[in-house]
Amino acid sequence: MILNFSERLKNMAGTATREILKLTANPQIISFAGGLPANECLPIREVSQITQELMSSQSANRILQYGTTQGMFSFRELCIDYVKSFGINNAKPDEILVVSGSQQGLDLACRAFLDKGDNILVEAPTYLAFLQIAAAYEVNIIGVNSAKDGIDTDDLEDKIKKYSPKLVYLVPTFSNPTGKTYPLEKRKLIAEITQKYNVIVVEDDPYSKLRFAGEDVSSIKGVGGDNIIFVTSFSKIISPGLRIGLCVASEPILKQMEKCKQGADVHTSHLSQAIVKEFLKRDLIKNQIKKVKPIYKTKKELMEQALAKYMPQEFIYTRPEGGMFIWGEFLADVNTYNLFPKAIEKKVAYVYGNVFYPQNSGHNTLRLNFSNATPEQIETGIKALGELYKDEISKIK
Ligand SMILES: Cc1ncc(COP(=O)(O)O)c(C=O)c1O
Repeated sequence: MILNFSERLKNMAGTATREILKLTANPQIISFAGGLPANECLPIREVSQITQELMSSQSANRILQYGTTQGMFSFRELCIDYVKSFGINNAKPDEILVVSGSQQGLDLACRAFLDKGDNILVEAPTYLAFLQIAAAYEVNIIGVNSAKDGIDTDDLEDKIKKYSPKLVYLVPTFSNPTGKTYPLEKRKLIAEITQKYNVIVVEDDPYSKLRFAGEDVSSIKGVGGDNIIFVTSFSKIISPGLRIGLCVASEPILKQMEKCKQGADVHTSHLSQAIVKEFLKRDLIKNQIKKVKPIYKTKKELMEQALAKYMPQEFIYTRPEGGMFIWGEFLADVNTYNLFPKAIEKKVAYVYGNVFYPQNSGHNTLRLNFSNATPEQIETGIKALGELYKDEISKIK
């Protein structure tokens, strides 16, 4: 049988992290590749207790039934308070859409706004799976330069003028892949520029609650207008397996995204919504965040120490104040994609940086995840990578 797949699929590569994760299924490989929370942080006891209580409560039938596409009303009501912690005040329940992971929020925003051939802007490098989503909508993805403190706003404005993009996608806090965080002034400027030129901003924030140093900063949505769709997730603080995320945007935008969601999955798992609702209602989310932060802080510091000790001096890297990733760059002609098989031989995995660039540049870069490996694995894995790269650099010299 001839399988006549869609044209759209020709633009879509499987994401590199998924492919790499297949390799790292081998337990002997130390993986700095994924974006997984630490296993020891998953709240198994709390989820188990809440689920038992829910299933013996009067709401059990309702929880196991179909629900509304927007999400459980009582959960969205609680989320009004929760999103205040991102600087988003006065959201109404109809300005919140519960989604099946923030990944779905990104997809729905694209589905609602993008047509084939549209231009969109992303910070380069950016979240790999967003590039995959956007490719499915057959749009032109244009990279905007990244400065030390996040997107270069001069380049952003220039490219808005040049390309008239419909949408800009940003991960402004502890970015995946770079770990960078935009300062408040930059956020205000982005809000102002995008409003002025009538560009939709998709602000993706799954990581800001994982801050272990420095001060909280408002979301762009918190300082901006109705052109901003804020997307957040409970994956990195409670559990990715529950698949619960939130979109906050104006009602006209969410109405269209809701329409797209109806066809996608009818609604997000009711049981998962009810569980996350209890985390908010019982304030367990605060304990959970409190538990996670010091663990990630320690792991990040251990990784930084190992990088300083073992990597060649031509390697520079970000020092994030939260999140899950360190971004590295070689000030030498080191191709991290070509060297990946050698790293796997040494039983260590990372993500080569070129895949995070819309135009596949950045061959001298890589992303390291520090949240999932054990302290021993961090030491052993970075030591092995250091040996590999020092060896490579000595050959270039
Ligand atoms: C920047 C970014 N956005 C979105 C997601 C998707 O998260 P989820 O769908 O689990 O909420 C991730 C996951 O790694 C991410 O790093």
